Amino acid sequence: MRHALSQDARKARSTWRTLARLLRYFRPYLLLIIGVGVLLLLSTGVQAVRPFLIGQAIDCFIAPAGESCALVDNPTQPDAGGLAGLMIFYAVLSVIGALASGGQFYLMAYAGQRVLTQLRDEIFDQIHRLTLSYYDKNRAGDVMSRLTNDADTIAQAINSSLVQVIAQMLNLIGFVVAMVLLQPALSVIVLVMLPVMFLVTMWLANRARQAFRQTRAEMGTVNTDLEQSISGVREVQAFSREEENIERFRESNAANRDANVRAVAITSALRPSLDVLGNVTLAVVAGVGGAFALSGQPLAGSVVTVGVIVAFIRYVQRVNYPIQVISNLWAQIQSAVAGAERMFEMLDEQPDIVDAPDAVELPPIKGLIEFDDVSFAYNPDEPVLKHISFRVEPGQTVALVGPTGAGKTTIVNLIGRFYDVTDGVVRIDGYDVRQVTRRSLRRQLGIVLQDTVLFSDTVANNIRYGRPEATDEEIEAAAKLALAHDFIQALPEGYNTVLGERGKTLSQGQRQLIAIARAALADPRILLLDEATSSVDTRTERLIQKALTRLLEGRTSIVVAHRLSTIRNADQVLVIQHGEIVERGTHDSLLKAGGVYHDLYMSQFRRQVDLTGSGNGKEAPSPALSPATGD
Ligand SMILES: Nc1ncnc2c1ncn2[C@@H]1O[C@H](COP(=O)(O)OP(=O)(O)OP(=O)(O)O)[C@@H](O)[C@H]1O
Ligand SMILES: [Mg+2]
Repeated sequence: MRHALSQDARKARSTWRTLARLLRYFRPYLLLIIGVGVLLLLSTGVQAVRPFLIGQAIDCFIAPAGESCALVDNPTQPDAGGLAGLMIFYAVLSVIGALASGGQFYLMAYAGQRVLTQLRDEIFDQIHRLTLSYYDKNRAGDVMSRLTNDADTIAQAINSSLVQVIAQMLNLIGFVVAMVLLQPALSVIVLVMLPVMFLVTMWLANRARQAFRQTRAEMGTVNTDLEQSISGVREVQAFSREEENIERFRESNAANRDANVRAVAITSALRPSLDVLGNVTLAVVAGVGGAFALSGQPLAGSVVTVGVIVAFIRYVQRVNYPIQVISNLWAQIQSAVAGAERMFEMLDEQPDIVDAPDAVELPPIKGLIEFDDVSFAYNPDEPVLKHISFRVEPGQTVALVGPTGAGKTTIVNLIGRFYDVTDGVVRIDGYDVRQVTRRSLRRQLGIVLQDTVLFSDTVANNIRYGRPEATDEEIEAAAKLALAHDFIQALPEGYNTVLGERGKTLSQGQRQLIAIARAALADPRILLLDEATSSVDTRTERLIQKALTRLLEGRTSIVVAHRLSTIRNADQVLVIQHGEIVERGTHDSLLKAGGVYHDLYMSQFRRQVDLTGSGNGKEAPSPALSPATGD
């Protein structure tokens, strides 16, 4: 309800409000912006006065025309010296104008780049602030496109387009004022044509805006496809989905192309249309002005001289230019506004899991976990967990077993408060997880996920991930505990070996060992372990089982278990089915009961080889129930 409302409000936000919001980022650079304004006025003034000076050159020094010369009193003779002086002044003025114009672009880019860096930082922070539920709904490619394409478009707009548009608007005003002062009657012709030019421009620019919106949206799709193909390249090839993927990419790529072509077609129609209108204006001004000049009759009270006509022609030619620039860049600014809208939209997105205003720091915990009648749904009308209640005493291990999609990972997600319960309470050491800060909560949790993500960094830094201040010795100790030390030493550069993106150069089993070392180093009181389902070779499996046993020792652990050894070592086994706890007990008691667990065991775990071997006090296999080996 609230969400729907805010979305409507978002849609209603106009271009101007987005622009205004963008401009607010420039507040810290107010002095710079004032400097830009001064330089703008200077260059505009130079622009406006130059055609007038050319007219004066003719009327004062080349073909003296009495009163229309403002520089000399009633000149009668051509004056080469005066002309030279005026031209030198003209040249100097032009240089000043050019410097002012260059300076304003530099200052604007200087401020603009800083604003942009800030925007990017804000988006990047927001990426980390937003909770998992945002990424359930939004495609990674879209998010990336906000950070790259949208930011680039905005950069371009801020760096050049915006200043140019303002400069050209000022130029236009300057030209109109100069024309009215010079010859009011002739300027009426131009003033009649200007609105026509503007209307044509605005109409085309509006259509261009819509087209550019479309290109942005299509670009998001292209990026998503790219991102998915790259990060999932192994899956793609394993399932021979290359052709489908390529086909799908072709389609989104082609849609993007078509959207771009449409946008460009509209934009490029602008210039010819304005050219035609400008040239018609020019012809009328030259014709009317010329007729009055030849007849020698005054027009609206003042004589039309050759100098006035020449100055006017130059003004008309120049009036054309700002409108063209404005209309061209307007489309660019429109697409930047579209980009900014999308960026702000993401910045306005409220993470749905935030610290309560009165949240307290979770003090160092003993490790008691309680689920009190917890229900949960990712989507409002699809309950995933129903009335889950259980309790894990400090130091105990609870194994969650159940068919795929039963809700095991979801239970783990709720303990780390990656999502909030729909009903009931999750407590740690008696604290409702919603009443403590997420940071203090997660710092005391060790989480080993189903699919270990390793970052493209060194092995040491990957292990160090949960405790950045750990020393090399501590890392090595953790790796030894996780039985990862041997294979790490065998890597080309040992602990300093840089892993490929997402750790692709390591085997599944090795990645799991690294994940165990990572968790061991962080040394959390509570360990949440979502065991990988992928099978590894027997030797590695033996290592992992041993490492896990060591890791779990002395900690409260909730393990989504796929390994028989883990289940048998657990103090309590919870059997989850369709989001409910259908059975609970130990491996042995559940097996005897002959219910759901018994069936699961028969179909899944029985064939597994328990490789941890003997010597583990917790293990109490009854001979009759020990798993079949080897076949
Ligand atoms: N982010 C999500 N958004 C919406 N539904 C989800 C999300 N994650 C999981 N689900 C749904 O919730 C249910 C439970 O999923 P969960 O991942 O907890 O299962 P699981 O028991 O861990 O399964 P597995 O053994 O395959 O890992 C499934 O029906 C799944 O489709
Ligand atoms: Mg799972």
